[in-house]
Amino acid sequence: MLVTGGAGFIGANFVLNWLSQDGTDGIINVDKLTYAGNRNTLASLGGNARHIFSQTDICDRAALDKLFAAHQPRAVVHFAAESHVDRSIHDPAEFIQTNIVGTFNLLEAARTYWGGLDAAAKAAFRFLHVSTDEVFGSLGPGDPQFSETTAYRPNSPYSASKAASDHLVRAYHHTYGLPVLTTHCSNNYGPYHFPEKLIPLMMTNALAGRSLPIYGDGLNVRDWLYVGDHCAAICAVLARGRVGETYNVGGWNEKTNLDVVHTLCDLLDELRRKAIGSYRDQITFVKDRPGHDRRYAIDAHKLERELGWKPAETLETGLRKTVQWYLDNQAWVRNATSGDYRNWMANQYAE
Ligand code: NAD
Ligand code: TYD
Repeated sequence: MLVTGGAGFIGANFVLNWLSQDGTDGIINVDKLTYAGNRNTLASLGGNARHIFSQTDICDRAALDKLFAAHQPRAVVHFAAESHVDRSIHDPAEFIQTNIVGTFNLLEAARTYWGGLDAAAKAAFRFLHVSTDEVFGSLGPGDPQFSETTAYRPNSPYSASKAASDHLVRAYHHTYGLPVLTTHCSNNYGPYHFPEKLIPLMMTNALAGRSLPIYGDGLNVRDWLYVGDHCAAICAVLARGRVGETYNVGGWNEKTNLDVVHTLCDLLDELRRKAIGSYRDQITFVKDRPGHDRRYAIDAHKLERELGWKPAETLETGLRKTVQWYLDNQAWVRNATSGDYRNWMANQYAE
């Protein structure tokens, strides 16, 4: 199986979960290793013959063609992307390049390879595109959750670039018959999450004694999904999803950012008590993100009804596991937060 972005947060969790199961296919892991890609996350796979890593940019068509020809994958699972909304606001160009042009290149390489397969291999082939709920835009407090038929209304350069990639994937099915599947997941959290996103950033700052910067009034709502549950959903869609269909993946965990940060602080107070006071004392309210989407919420009934998938974790159980993982893996965090990360933090939170 060819996995793109398998050194990033969700991709690496997927690769580790997949290879920990007996009898699963080997993985060719294609990742450019941007600031968000981290080979330390994959360290436990050292010497595992079922994992081959290739440092490759998905915008490099010739390199992709070689990988398809050499490894003859039966499926592609496409995670590679620029994924951070705040970065897309500062510098959208890379988002257009990787998320749109890169996905186009990957589709073209997959289409060429797939076109040369025999009838049985062609029918069995799958191209699974990992997208986001952010393509659907922002909900008001009383609006129904996003379903698979909700209209696209992306609001950030990130979500617009993901929306464009979704349209390409859809078109490759309708025009060429490429057997595609698309998933739209809500905000993930869990081990190996790069500390620029809300949950790992708050934990990292809390433990370092820095302030916990909440954008705006902190009442924006996200629907949190434990990364292990997301990986299980992808496995289900890959194995049994109907070709050409889209599936929403959510945790049924709508919470305001302030609620999430309070819960994190309370868990840290319990598991790593400070000498004086609570981690909640470090919370500060900072200038809001431009165009900040107010609420995301996923209706994941289709996935449950058709494929029998349900999340195993509640936000409370998943966050407890996640906080414990970060406390136990400070060396990974130190490694991930060296270098460029410091410049990003200094610029993004300067005000
Ligand atoms: P991430 O930023 O942690 O990892 C992205 C990975 O892609 C990194 O390893 C990076 O090196 C690699 N990459 C970037 N550009 C590349 C290129 N041009 N060629 C090859 N590799 C490249 O992202 P993530 O959080 O793991 O997200 C994975 C996917 O899931 C993305 O497509 C994202 O849009 C989607 N998604 C994520 C979330 C979330 O909460 N994290 C929610 C919804 C959807
Ligand atoms: P983020 O993890 O960047 O994911 P997304 O923007 O893709 O949903 O942000 C989650 C929420 O947390 C979002 O409403 C923005 C907010 N947020 C803060 O309040 N402070 C921060 O420092 C960050 C990074 C995010």
